[in-house]
Order: sequence, then structure tokens, then C-alpha cells
Amino acid sequence: MRKHIVAGNWKLNNTLDQGLALASEIANMVADEVTNGTEVVLGTPYIHLAAVQKLTQKTANIHIAAQDCSTHESGAYTGEVSAAMVASTGAGYVIIGHSERREYHNESDEMLATKINMALKNSLTPIFCCGESLQIRESGTHENYVCQQITESLFHLSANEFKNLVIAYEPIWAIGTGKTASAQQAQDMHKAIRNHIAGKLGNAIADTIPILYGGSCKPTNAQELFAQPDIDGGLIGGASLKSRDFVDIVKSF
Ligand code: 13P
Repeated sequence: MRKHIVAGNWKLNNTLDQGLALASEIANMVADEVTNGTEVVLGTPYIHLAAVQKLTQKTANIHIAAQDCSTHESGAYTGEVSAAMVASTGAGYVIIGHSERREYHNESDEMLATKINMALKNSLTPIFCCGESLQIRESGTHENYVCQQITESLFHLSANEFKNLVIAYEPIWAIGTGKTASAQQAQDMHKAIRNHIAGKLGNAIADTIPILYGGSCKPTNAQELFAQPDIDGGLIGGASLKSRDFVDIVKSF
């Protein structure tokens, strides 16, 4: 059976104190209420990583993620944070290729391939984001588009490296819009992604890769989404900022 993962992406929200208060609420609720073995990941801004890691390290099944890492190892790159620095905080995951970074920071498939290499080299599990715009969805080419994103940024990896990935399908038209993909639309894309990986690396590898859904996932729709055979969890934006909503999503499996 594949791992179930619910990851929060806090994006550009929460001061240090606010982030610690939120993480503490989530950790208490997870310890008290979560019995389904789902792995919980908190994707915080860089400044929170070390403190949130320390605060949550005793709670089983909680892990910490950065929201990005540099393509560089070190050097004169003001403002950048390397994968090694992320790993040194105790974080185990890093989100790579979120559509907001692709759009606002012009992150190309090629750059993302480099970031994936940096993450793996530093023993971080990448949560690789892919997803199409509304225009591409309406043109009917969305499956090809998303599979191409995967080919360009991930298919240079060996089977052994690939096994360490988590993929998040996040249709851009569903992010922060309140308009979620239907469970069937999400399942169809997750299946297409898994088939695409199987075509390159075989079913044995494809069947082990967790594929998460992201885009207006809430306590009211998580259960139906997570019931789909190829949906292994969620990458949660807005609802991850409210401890009650986030933990209710975790409990939806
Ligand atoms: P929302 O859950 O706010 O739609 O955001 C999804 C997302 O972008 C998670 O990375």
C-alpha cells in the first residue's frame, strides 16, 4: 500500500510566533486525534523550519517541508537557501515547482530538474508540483501537458532516485479559487501521471509513488478525493492555515 500524506503549504503567511502557535495546535490535535497513520507535513516559510521542527519532533508522523530550495549549492546568491541548509534544520521534505514559483519566478522545467537533484543529494524528499492552466484544460491537452512537465523535470532520474519522490497534481484553476477539480477529474489525471511513470520505469515503481491532489481541498471535499484509487493525499493551501480544518483533512482517510 502507498503512503498517505497530507501536506500543508503555508505559502507567504504567518510570522514566527503565529507559525509556532499554528504548528503547536496542529501537533496537539494530531497526537490526540489522528489514528489512521497518515503522514502529516507542514510546509512552512524558511524562517520557521528549525523552530517548527523542534516543536513537533516528538509528535509521530509530523514532518517539515520547505517551500523551495536553490539550484545552487552555496556561494554569492543573496537571498537563496540551499537544499543542504533546509536539511540542516531537520526538515525532511521540500516542495519543488509550485505553480506560483513557476509563474512569479519564471522557474523552468530545467531549473526544477536541478532543484530535484539538489533535494535528493541532500536526502530531502521532493514534493514535485505539476498542473495545467484553465486554458490548457479547456483545450483538452491537459494530460499531455502535465506528463511533459514530469518528463522534463524528473525523467533524468534513475529508478532508485525516482522512488524517493512525491508528486502533487495541482490544477492552477483550482488553486485558491474555491473551485476544486471533481474527484473524477483528479483521479483521471493521477492515473495518467501514474501510467506515464509506468511507461518509463515500470509498474513496480509507478505503484509506489504517492501522488497528492492540491487545489481548494477542504474538509468537505477531502474524503471524496482521497477515496479515489490513485489519490494518495493532498497538498493543502488555505485550509492548512486553520488547525481544525487541516487536521480534519488529515482524518479524511
Ligand atoms: P489552496 O488549497 O488554497 O487552493 O492552495 C493549494 C496549493 O497551492 C497548495 O500548494
